[in-house]
Amino acid sequence: MKCVVTGAAGFVGSHLSELLLAHGDEVVGIDSFTDYYDTGLKESNLRSALEHDRFTLRREDLLGTRLPDLFEGADVVFHLAGQPGVRPSWGAEFATYTSRNVLATQAVLEAARELPLTKLVYASSSSVYGDAESYPTAETLRPQPVSPYGVTKLAAEHLCELYRKGFGVPAVSLRLFTVYGPRQRPDMAFSRLVTSALHGDVFELYGDGGQTRDFTYVGDVVSAMRAAALSDFTGVANIGGGSRTSMNEVIDIITGLAGEPNVHRLPKMRGDVRDTAADTQTASEGFGYVPKVGLSDGLARMVEAGRPAISV
Ligand code: UGA
Repeated sequence: MKCVVTGAAGFVGSHLSELLLAHGDEVVGIDSFTDYYDTGLKESNLRSALEHDRFTLRREDLLGTRLPDLFEGADVVFHLAGQPGVRPSWGAEFATYTSRNVLATQAVLEAARELPLTKLVYASSSSVYGDAESYPTAETLRPQPVSPYGVTKLAAEHLCELYRKGFGVPAVSLRLFTVYGPRQRPDMAFSRLVTSALHGDVFELYGDGGQTRDFTYVGDVVSAMRAAALSDFTGVANIGGGSRTSMNEVIDIITGLAGEPNVHRLPKMRGDVRDTAADTQTASEGFGYVPKVGLSDGLARMVEAGRPAISV
């Protein structure tokens, strides 16, 4: 199939592009290389994809591009581009979050409305739930985000549902639960923890470490995205890793794999939820989703990828 991947140079976008290319798909990646983190890392994320002649990169901002032209001839649009990060989304930064998460998604949907796409897959977030009423959390529970970031991801998801119901855009919103794996964004916990264990950098732990997450391996996430694109499913589905682990437990696992990280304890950050856990029945029934990579295995892969090659 012919695919467009927005945010192709990001952590998840680059893994998705590689998966699609490995399946023989044609991929047009679009990425504006925002400076939320070191753009050199984004360049290296794409190194493997750029070796394929079925991959084309457009270095453009979604809001400054003629999207109907970009999407012309595509079967599926995977919309992953956005401003990530839960904790920095307060204050003046909120304008960037609304522009890159809400306005950009609305522009994608307006373009999709005119085209015969078979699927539009939107990368939503577990952060839409906030502190959920029950765990594991099903999609039917009322979302109550506790960060401005979560509010923008939920607004964009509502737009997907609006265009799906109003104009027949075949949209799927996948609520991704704390994705991890090699090339994870450098501001995220596992990336910082592995760097700390391997290189001694300080890891600042926000709160008592008792907070839990349903951590999801990136390979499972991108497989879910492709499976959703190929299925008849539309609507909203959780994508979780299948277990709930505290940060203190994660620190123990990483200590076993790579040595002790240099942990400094700080107060809890505003916008952080206490717990997440995904009920994945909708994804399982809708497109056969079953997470395959457990946390210890996935963390071992991150440590391996983060370890500098030993030259002899
Ligand atoms: C992650 C992503 O950053 C969001 O973009 C995504 O939308 C969200 O998952 C999601 O699932 O929806 P988060 O769960 O905060 O957000 O993931 P991490 O940054 O890996 O943080 C996990 C936990 O570690 C949090 O409790 C956080 O406070 C803590 N943490 C993080 C630290 O203690 N220190 C750090 O340096 C970073």
